[in-house]
Amino acid sequence: MVKVVSVHSFRGGTGKSNSTANLAATVAQQGYRVGIVDTDIQSPGIHVLFGFDESQMNLSLNDYLWGRCSVEDAAYDVTHALQGSGASGSAIYLIPSSLKAGEIARVLREGYDVGLLNDGFQELIQQLNLDYLFIDTHPGLNEETLLSITISDVLLLIMRPDRQDFQGTAVTVDIARRLEVPKMLLMVNKALSSFDFDSLKAEVESTYGAPVAAVLPLTEEMIQLGSSDIFCMRFPDHPLSKTIAGVAALLMD
Ligand SMILES: Nc1ncnc2c1ncn2[C@@H]1O[C@H](COP(=O)(O)OP(=O)(O)O)[C@@H](O)[C@H]1O
Ligand SMILES: [Mg+2]
Repeated sequence: MVKVVSVHSFRGGTGKSNSTANLAATVAQQGYRVGIVDTDIQSPGIHVLFGFDESQMNLSLNDYLWGRCSVEDAAYDVTHALQGSGASGSAIYLIPSSLKAGEIARVLREGYDVGLLNDGFQELIQQLNLDYLFIDTHPGLNEETLLSITISDVLLLIMRPDRQDFQGTAVTVDIARRLEVPKMLLMVNKALSSFDFDSLKAEVESTYGAPVAAVLPLTEEMIQLGSSDIFCMRFPDHPLSKTIAGVAALLMD
């Protein structure tokens, strides 16, 4: 059975795309077939971590949503991101969103059929025979986010130790509860190393009444990498990679 994992944060710049790429790669490495859809249509970015640029993106999620192609036509095999470290059977497919200003403007102007997006997810799962589908969402709440939450087996909510994130995340947690997401995990990202991680985890867990999968430190090597690569693949022995592997195990559990 496929597992759909949505990665969301109330605010941008929280680490959704980097976390999605790292978790998806860590899961795929173990011999699974993983798809990643960039539904952050207004500010796409996860393709960058897979070494993709606009010139390589012949077709994108936008083309599917406008009826110009099937969704599999916009899926790119990016298994090379595992750098040969994957078990047999490992595969990663990325469905990027377009960076063309006209495409983004059209979505903002006309919106798109969210039902079609859902059909696209189901078609990808079937056609690519996926074990996991990761959805890298747009920050905040909109129709697409609600759909992603509704169809998710696991919702991973990322937040920074910042009061704006705390308040915004409460709204999402409330909605996810009403939508009865089977499994909701929180993850705190960009915590300063001087913080007390255990008490931060306890504080977040008691605030939301949901488990915190991990508290990730603000990591200099991640900043240096600047989304040019997938951290866990570049630095497999780094403590942050081990922590991310722990989160991947919780998602898969
Ligand atoms: N734990 C971390 N330590 C340091 N930098 C991080 C960490 N997580 C994310 N970043 C950086 O934060 C920026 C935003 O991350 P991104 O994944 O694009 O966020 P989002 O998709 O939520 O907008 C990127 O420059 C990324 O490298
Ligand atoms: Mg992003």
